[in-house]
Amino acid sequence: MSENRQIVSTATRQGELILSIVQNEIPTPSDNEVIVKMEAAPINPSDMFPLLAFADYSQGKLMLDDQQQKMVAPISEQFLDAIRSRLDQTLPVGNEGAGRVVTAGANAKHLEGKLVSLVSGQCYQQFVKVPAAMCLVHKEDTTAEEAASSFVNPITALCFIETLKKEGHKAMVHTAAASNLGQMLLKLCLQENIDLICVVRSVEQAQLLQTLGAKYIINSTDDDFKEQLVEAMAETGATLAFDAIGGGRMADTLLSSMEHALSRNASGLNTYGAEQHKQVYIYGRLARGPITLGQNYGMYWGVGGWLVMPVLKKLGPKRAAELQARVVNEIKTTFASHITDELSLLEAIDPANIARYFPKKTGEKYLIKPQQGL
Ligand SMILES: NC(=O)c1ccc[n+]([C@@H]2O[C@H](COP(=O)([O-])OP(=O)(O)OC[C@H]3O[C@@H](n4cnc5c(N)ncnc54)[C@H](OP(=O)(O)O)[C@@H]3O)[C@@H](O)[C@H]2O)c1
Repeated sequence: MSENRQIVSTATRQGELILSIVQNEIPTPSDNEVIVKMEAAPINPSDMFPLLAFADYSQGKLMLDDQQQKMVAPISEQFLDAIRSRLDQTLPVGNEGAGRVVTAGANAKHLEGKLVSLVSGQCYQQFVKVPAAMCLVHKEDTTAEEAASSFVNPITALCFIETLKKEGHKAMVHTAAASNLGQMLLKLCLQENIDLICVVRSVEQAQLLQTLGAKYIINSTDDDFKEQLVEAMAETGATLAFDAIGGGRMADTLLSSMEHALSRNASGLNTYGAEQHKQVYIYGRLARGPITLGQNYGMYWGVGGWLVMPVLKKLGPKRAAELQARVVNEIKTTFASHITDELSLLEAIDPANIARYFPKKTGEKYLIKPQQGL
């Protein structure tokens, strides 16, 4: 059996992160499984923590010889408690990706040779074994690079809309709205006539969303950010926000602006605030540190975490399949991701390249190509 190369990540009790490329045998599928030869896998923000823990990659050192290919970087002691559940374990990495099925179990022969995308949590390797049911089959004119980002951002954007509809909101706010996910969400909202208030943090991001047709774009660095937000919320009736930033006062600003917009014409006693429920979902942690809430929004509000997997599971298999079929059909348009550069497995563990992909800048997405540079 030939060999499989894979990136694995280990955070040690001694405060070291070791990113290694290990070699193991290509697995054999059981009747309901397939082996996918991975051709492309994106590095999303959600891959960064499994990959890097809280290591200081700027001090990382590559160690390459006949025996090993690894990068070692220090993890500050202050972070060790937060990552204790993973200490001293060697973990696979890479949430999603795409490639061709090269071997299929007895009940999955129909997948042989097909281009599929998958979510496995171990996509940064050359060959992945997965249940056939986890594979999303793509069209023949779709490339692996296009199919690689079929789940994390597309399904999340679709599920935001499912949440909006299920909870009965009319419009929504999205922060860090020029992100890859934000651009997909904007296209979806335009198609479905849902008002979307896009919160960005630079003029360039505002221009980018304007070219995509956004009607409500608000720059959080403007002096009158809050006033603009209240105005847009009053116009659209937005009572739902998806916040990717997390740390700091953004959730508080969103809730107090919603309350302001909803009760701007209230008179007399307004002890408990406007009766419409105001909801902020924190679905990313782009800014670390505590989430600070105030007290300016009465009693009809909620702040909570939001994760795509449990939301999708609650929708049920039929609806989930409909959403996935839409992703397959619109992978070159609504759900297209702009790729900045492609990295081999070895290039992906090089601190010089980590310094390029870790900042998660607007419009910069990196793809790992596991078959490259062997
Ligand atoms: N909960 C879930 O189920 C789920 C699922 C999918 C994605 N996500 C989350 O969705 C978010 C977007 O993912 P993506 O792949 O679309 O990201 P992306 O394309 O890499 O874009 C990241 C965006 O965030 C901005 N940003 C970075 N740090 C920021 C900060 N501290 N404050 C404000 N803006 C900041 C960047 O702007 P600059 O260029 O100005 O830095 C950029 O526009 C991530 O947080 C990811 O973890 C969550």
